[in-house]
Amino acid sequence: MSEVKLTVNGRNISKSVSDRTLLVELLREELGLTGTHVGCDTSQCGACTVHIDGNAVKSCTVLAAQVSGSSVTTIEGLAKGDTLHPMQEAFRTHHGLQCGFCTPGMIMMGVDIVNRHPEGLDETTIRKELEGNICRCTGYHNIVKAIAAAAEDMRAGATSLAAE
Ligand code: FES
Ligand code: FES
Repeated sequence: MSEVKLTVNGRNISKSVSDRTLLVELLREELGLTGTHVGCDTSQCGACTVHIDGNAVKSCTVLAAQVSGSSVTTIEGLAKGDTLHPMQEAFRTHHGLQCGFCTPGMIMMGVDIVNRHPEGLDETTIRKELEGNICRCTGYHNIVKAIAAAAEDMRAGATSLAAE
């Protein structure tokens, strides 16, 4: 057993877990954060993507004990109260979700992609960056459109914050 200390969506968590517990298991089964999905057992689908210290990571690929001390953000931690994150809003506006199963992972990955490309994003880059996230409804077109639109909104938001 290991004592795991994490900040999850801004809340300090301390849990005793088996050494084999995956981060996704801790999030879903111990903390009830079921927005992080499990869509494969081969680390291919990306439905389990969360942010660890600000970087997108597939939470089925890391042990909870391995990331003790880190700050984790899940899809539940993205909105500010009733205000959706620009990436969530863009998925809604541009119909980037169909059955919605891959959506939490797509959104968490989308935010990470935008953060890593402050210079701007073109469609080819977004599609390449999304190679680790599988949508079984295969509707990538609107997902790509949503991420491109959110990139603009996130940049505009950052600019207006800087101007304040
Ligand atoms: S559940 Fe993690 S990559 Fe599929
Ligand atoms: S929207 Fe259904 S799997 Fe992507």
